[in-house]
Amino acid sequence: MSGIATINGRLYLDGEDVAHAADRFGTPMYLYAGDSIVAGVGEIRESLGDLVEVYYSIKANPAIGLCKLIRDAGVDGAEIASSGELVAALRSGFDPSTVLFAGPGKTDDELTHAIHTKIGQINVESQNELNRVDAIAAKHGTVQRIGIRVNPESDSLGQGKIRTGGGAQKFGIDESKVVNAIKLASELEHVEFVGLHTMLGSQVLNAELMLETCKNALCMAARIGEAANVQIKSLNFGGGLGVPHKDDDPVFDLKHFGKRLVEIISFAKQTQSLAGLRCMIEPGRVLVSEHGLYVSRVIDVKESVGKSFAILDGGIHQALLPITANSYRMSIANRAGIQGGTPVLLGGPLCTSADQW
Ligand SMILES: Cc1ncc(COP(=O)(O)O)c(C=O)c1O
Repeated sequence: MSGIATINGRLYLDGEDVAHAADRFGTPMYLYAGDSIVAGVGEIRESLGDLVEVYYSIKANPAIGLCKLIRDAGVDGAEIASSGELVAALRSGFDPSTVLFAGPGKTDDELTHAIHTKIGQINVESQNELNRVDAIAAKHGTVQRIGIRVNPESDSLGQGKIRTGGGAQKFGIDESKVVNAIKLASELEHVEFVGLHTMLGSQVLNAELMLETCKNALCMAARIGEAANVQIKSLNFGGGLGVPHKDDDPVFDLKHFGKRLVEIISFAKQTQSLAGLRCMIEPGRVLVSEHGLYVSRVIDVKESVGKSFAILDGGIHQALLPITANSYRMSIANRAGIQGGTPVLLGGPLCTSADQW
C-alpha cells in the first residue's frame, strides 16, 4: 500500500499505521514514506525524459536521510540556498559539481564555502554578487561557473500562490539589465557565465500555466542570447510544481506537463542562440511534501470561555508554512475519516497565541 490511506478509521502511510508509529517513535515527529518518495522521483524523471535535468531543491527538506534517498533515486544534483544546505548536500553524497547555489543574500562566508568546495554553479542574483563571486574566486585562484538569475519583464504566473519573479523583486537581475551583467561577467577573470536561471513562483497547480511560464522563459533566454550575442548554454526553470494542500486543490498533471515541455524545448532549440541548450528544473516540495506527515499527540483537553481546546505536543514552528498559509490537511490518526464529535480549537506548546488555530 503506497501513499496516505484511511482504512477502518485508521491512518496509514505507505502501509505503516501512523498511530502505531507515533507510539514506536514518539511525538512530535515527521513521518516520511521512502518508497513513495523514490517512486515520485521516478515519475518526474520519466515524464521529463532526457531533455530536462532534475535538481532537488534541498530547502524543501534538508534531512540527510531524505536527501540521500532522493539522490539515490536518480536526480542529477541538488539546489541549495545556504551553507547549511551545502553541508546537507555533501553529507547526503551529492557530488559538489552537481550542486547549484541560488538565493538572494548569500554572504561572503557562504560564497567562500561554496567556491572552496568547488560546487557546480552559483546563480548570482545581482551585479554586486557577481563582483563578489569574482573577487572570492580570485582569492582561491579559481574560475567559478555562474548562472544569472533573471527577474523577467513579463510575469506570466498570475496564479502562483508564492511569487518570486515579475515586477519589483529581491530575486534576480531585472531582464533589462541582464545583457550588461553577461558583458560584465565576460570581462571578469574568475567567473564563467554558463546560463540563466529563473523562478517565478511556487505552488502552481495548473500545468498549462507552468508550461506557459517555461515557454516564456525560453523566449526570454533566446532574446537575451541574441541581444548579448552569446550562446545560452543552460536555462534553469526553477521549481514551482505545486502539491495539493487542501482536499479540493487540483492535482498537477505531471505527465502532460512533461510531454509538452519536452516538445516546447525541442522546438526552442531550433533557435540559433539556444542550439546547445541544457534545461534544468529544481523541484522541491513536489518531491517530498505529499509523502510525509507531521504527527503530533493530544496531551490535554480543556474548556475556556465556552470553547473546547485540544492541546498538542507539536507546535506551529514545526509545520510553519502550511499553518501560516492556512493550507493544510489534517487527520486524527486513530479516528481517521470518522465524522462527529465536539469541534475543538488546537493549541501547540509554544507560549504565543500564534500557536493556536
Ligand atoms: C530558487 C528556487 N528553486 C527551487 C525552489 C523549489 O520550489 P518548489 O518547492 O515550489 O518546487 C525554490 C522555492 O522557493 C526556489 O526559490
